[in-house]
Amino acid sequence: MPLVTTTEMFKKSMKEGFAVGAFNVNNMEIIQAIVDAAHDANSPVILQASSSAIKYARINYLMKMVEAALEEYPSIPVAMHLDHGPDFETCRMCIDAGFTSVMIDGSKYDFEENVAITKQVVDYAHSKGVVVEAELGKLAGIEDDVNVSAADAMYTDPSQAEEFVRRTGCDSLAIAIGTSHGAYKFKGEAKLRFDILKEIKGRIPDTPIVLHGASTVIPELVEMCNQYGGNIPGAKGVPDEMLHEASISGVSKINVDTDLRLAMTAGIRKVFHDDPSAFDPRKYLTPARELIKETVKHKMIDVFGSSNKA
Ligand code: G3H
Ligand code: 13P
Ligand code: ZN
Repeated sequence: MPLVTTTEMFKKSMKEGFAVGAFNVNNMEIIQAIVDAAHDANSPVILQASSSAIKYARINYLMKMVEAALEEYPSIPVAMHLDHGPDFETCRMCIDAGFTSVMIDGSKYDFEENVAITKQVVDYAHSKGVVVEAELGKLAGIEDDVNVSAADAMYTDPSQAEEFVRRTGCDSLAIAIGTSHGAYKFKGEAKLRFDILKEIKGRIPDTPIVLHGASTVIPELVEMCNQYGGNIPGAKGVPDEMLHEASISGVSKINVDTDLRLAMTAGIRKVFHDDPSAFDPRKYLTPARELIKETVKHKMIDVFGSSNKA
């Protein structure tokens, strides 16, 4: 089937209580690993590219590789999404290139400016049949020693979320409930504000909710990187149990990039450690691709609950 928007997969996710994984893509091996996993798990999937990924891989290469994936697995619903669109122009470029979903990340602006830029993207995207994810709240890591009012200012305000969705007409909303990007999400214990998620869901029950910064930072992969010459001390992510809880509590899209980066790096490092004379890229990229595939499959089947929902 051709690329789909996220509309139907999110409807199903809200009705049946699971989340769709959105995985960041930067090259052929990552795309292949993700769609191989989606095929094995019989799961819908969102492939997403950031503006820096687009700069790296080049938009036409990305679209052609995604096209090849669709031909290989015609029964798997695949959406192509712009992750963290920084401005209207980037969103327009992706929409014109055939993306079926874009994110406009106005979370760096104040509320009114965020509403204005989101609305501008929504108007253009909808005129082309493309859906829009917006973001409200700040995803910066919330350290243990940050006082409560400073932390509260970063979380998404449920009443603002309701107003924001009504005024912008966005199709899904990324919220801040304690996750953050990268490999260092929590200094102490992992903590997510499920109470805020519940309140937001109560106010906008029909709007799919998105969780960014949601990698588990899988301990086995961090250990593997470190065992084979890496140095990633103290990395910590969102435990699988919390992501599972989010998946059955109204979160429809869960973003994963860091875990894929760790899997790829761990796979490559092991080959170089075991055989320092290796220099054929196929030799070190094949196990890396396999490790990404297993990582994605595990999330779909054991954590997000999206397997057999294609
Ligand atoms: O949230 C951002 C994603 O992890 C993409 O990161 O801009 O380095 O491609 P990137
Ligand atoms: P992680 O850094 O936790 O993988 O989050 C990725 C993300 O939110 C991409 O938008
Ligand atoms: Zn993100």
